[in-house]
Amino acid sequence: MTEATKAGLEGIVAGKTSISTVGKEGLDLTYRGYSIHDLAKKATFEEVVFLLLHGELPTLTQLNEFIDQLMSLRSLPPELQTVLKLIPKDSNPMDVLRTGCSMLGTLEPEKSSSLQLSIAKRLLAIMPSMLLFWYQYHMGKGSIETSSESEKTIAAHILHLLYGHPASPSQIRALDVALILHAEHEFNASTFTCRVITSTLSDFYSAITGGICALRGPLHGGADEAAMEQISQFKSVDEAEAGIKSMLSKKEKIMGFGHRVYKYGDPRSDIIKEWAKKLADEPSKKNLFSIAERIEEVMFREKHLYPNVDFYSALTYHFLGIPTFLFTPLFVISRTSGWCAHIFEQRANNRLIRPIAEYVGPLPKPFIPIEERN
Ligand code: ACO
Repeated sequence: MTEATKAGLEGIVAGKTSISTVGKEGLDLTYRGYSIHDLAKKATFEEVVFLLLHGELPTLTQLNEFIDQLMSLRSLPPELQTVLKLIPKDSNPMDVLRTGCSMLGTLEPEKSSSLQLSIAKRLLAIMPSMLLFWYQYHMGKGSIETSSESEKTIAAHILHLLYGHPASPSQIRALDVALILHAEHEFNASTFTCRVITSTLSDFYSAITGGICALRGPLHGGADEAAMEQISQFKSVDEAEAGIKSMLSKKEKIMGFGHRVYKYGDPRSDIIKEWAKKLADEPSKKNLFSIAERIEEVMFREKHLYPNVDFYSALTYHFLGIPTFLFTPLFVISRTSGWCAHIFEQRANNRLIRPIAEYVGPLPKPFIPIEERN
């Protein structure tokens, strides 16, 4: 196989970006030059979103204005509420966001690309409302008010809508950190999808909708839900040890492990693992955390594979009381910030993304009229 036809485009540089990098060795992660370790420790998700969208960290005044703007953009148009109510209860919530985003594009279409920043903010602010409105409508609470003024941040807003009451500061911070860690990751599959769509001069909503579709699969964003299902099937560390070994012997994949770029560990994993550990404050949670750690040990011993961001994010969400099927939609809410930054960047210097294929099909052959085929 030639370099250009490497399966899955592994190692192929497909364009330039100044938004984030995993570093030359694939060992680190920076957003606009700032280390993910600093951002996860010292920044809030809103600061990170501002950084991604504007290229610079905000001043306090800019941040407060930005938060106020996002808060004012949370409410759902009545037509969108109607559509969300019609989406069946047993749907995959990723389909809810996909449909909701697409519907919003019909209600508030992008009339000019000069509106792109406003649309980015609207999407970031409204996605938690869409998701939790649909969830609460079908799961018992009825039509909820999503434009709440009582919570300033996206993390606090999400948890309040989910719990029906305000979350604690440590719960909010745990989710905030998870959102920071998932916000951006250069040319991953969903971001690249957004860039391909953008490169055709399609509209903003189409690009984000495409990103949601690409993120849904278990090899990408869907891995957090699959990881949670795998972790929770074990009752003890010994069961986990035996179960994982047996799955590996059958060549099954263990979700939340491995990464196309990070071959020596995902820098986001230890950060979110610390949060999962902090939230494991009761025996059943401590047991699940030990099971996850044992899976990590077995994966390193047997395969030299490390957990990616999704493995301990799954536990963190679980310990926050978030239902498993909402994990990947939370990833959407976070990654929308990175997608938006990439759409801006693609548009700023656009050229149609249109690679070529190495043809491996049949040689030219004569056409046989239908009546002569057997
Ligand atoms: N469990 C078991 N074996 C694995 C795993 C895993 N999670 N990941 C890779 N391997 C093995 C493969 O079986 C393969 O072994 P082989 O050479 O003996 O056949 C080898 O490692 C290479 O694996 P590939 O799938 O070719 O590696 P690739 O770079 O294409 O895949 C990927 C990266 C898709 C993330 C892969 O590691 C995987 O499927 N992981 C599980 C899903 C997952 O966690 N996805 C989330 C990624 S992070 C994100 O999107 C936010």
